[in-house]
Amino acid sequence: MPASTLIKNATCLLPGGAEQINVLISQGKIILDPAVHTTAEETIDAAGLHLLPGVIDDQVHFRDPGLTHKEDLHTGSRACAAGGVTTFLEMPNTNPATITCDELHKKLELASKKSIVNYGFYIGATPDNVAELQQAKRTPGIKIFIGSSTGNLLVDQQEALERIFAETTLPICAHCEDEETVRRNAAALEGGKCIEDHSKIRNHEAAVIATKRAIDLAIRHNHHFHVLHVSTAQECELLREYQQQVTDPAKRVVSAEVCPHHLLFNIDDYQRLGSLVQMNPSIKTKADNERLWQALRQGEIQVIATDHAPHTLEEKDQPYPRSPSGLPAVENSLALMLNAVNQGRISLEKLVECMCEAPAEIWDIVNKGKIEEGYDADLVLVDMNLEKTILNENQRAKAGWSPWHGVSLTGWPVKTWCHGTVVYDGKQVCEDHRGQEVKFDHSP
Ligand code: DOR
Repeated sequence: MPASTLIKNATCLLPGGAEQINVLISQGKIILDPAVHTTAEETIDAAGLHLLPGVIDDQVHFRDPGLTHKEDLHTGSRACAAGGVTTFLEMPNTNPATITCDELHKKLELASKKSIVNYGFYIGATPDNVAELQQAKRTPGIKIFIGSSTGNLLVDQQEALERIFAETTLPICAHCEDEETVRRNAAALEGGKCIEDHSKIRNHEAAVIATKRAIDLAIRHNHHFHVLHVSTAQECELLREYQQQVTDPAKRVVSAEVCPHHLLFNIDDYQRLGSLVQMNPSIKTKADNERLWQALRQGEIQVIATDHAPHTLEEKDQPYPRSPSGLPAVENSLALMLNAVNQGRISLEKLVECMCEAPAEIWDIVNKGKIEEGYDADLVLVDMNLEKTILNENQRAKAGWSPWHGVSLTGWPVKTWCHGTVVYDGKQVCEDHRGQEVKFDHSP
């Protein structure tokens, strides 16, 4: 890697807004607006392009260890690099599940050998591992499956949830679908006969009950809590009510995330895409899509992340309900959202807030998420005018397919840096590069 790189003439998305300013990368760090005569080993003329902080995806499933026929830390991180994602936070439903400090440390060790971009791992909650959750360090926080999904992690009993919120201090995030409601719906539909039944089993009610319950726990325990993959208009209303209740943003403990698939797909897409758009929480209606976009614009939802959850096409091809839930997305999430910027759905500033700044803030990530003096040079250069089509055959993630196959997008990442090293040059991913363990500062 060159010791220094000068990026000239890009429009940079700084915390205060877009500004045309030169950026010097030196020793893996950002130097803003260097002196006019500064020279660097390498100079890039980025006129006409936008420079963004590298994306931080706070919800991915990379299946390593245990399910590496679907994805592994190398292939998942390769997809990240090409997608402009410089940091991922990965979920604990691997095999074995990441429910002890020991397993967490093993995953970190594995990632140091395999991951091209920067990495962090959640520790999963079980009904009886509070001691592990209390001891865990080197993690963004605790993941609770309040409703079950892929894997067997589940904490749905009130007493266990109260204990986790009361007796731990790390930030908590949760998969919110009410287990009882899902089971009742499934029984009424005899387990489900066709893919459309998925959204009837994992219905609006299931998502709303669980999200309401989790927000209530967070408020009563004054515990930092993040709602993962919001999928319904009603949950947006719950988040709006919460913000009206706690008007000072500094005093809020609840934040929320939405995924591209819940913004862009709805039940009308089952006919065309079948189980490729089967995920948990399920996709809902067009009206829900619209309310989720609005919630992003209004700040009721702060984060966009993918819930990248790959399964092979063979697995997906099984008839419902044997087809597994989840889809790969980390490689295309930035392009999907840049395209949404071009369509006028959100601003580029909002995209940067939701994909870079907010995840860094919510998970107490040190020195990332902003183009700021002294921050890590995790950067992505994007061409807002570049038009390309998502194709299965071009996917770098191991599963080798995308539910957006054949979709043309305008706005793509063309270069990605991790700590000042180019990990994607617009064509190739630098497979030899190794990212770093993300540092979290959870001090109050
Ligand atoms: O659809 C999903 N798949 N949702 C989840 O929460 C888990 C994920 C997976 O790991 O397959």
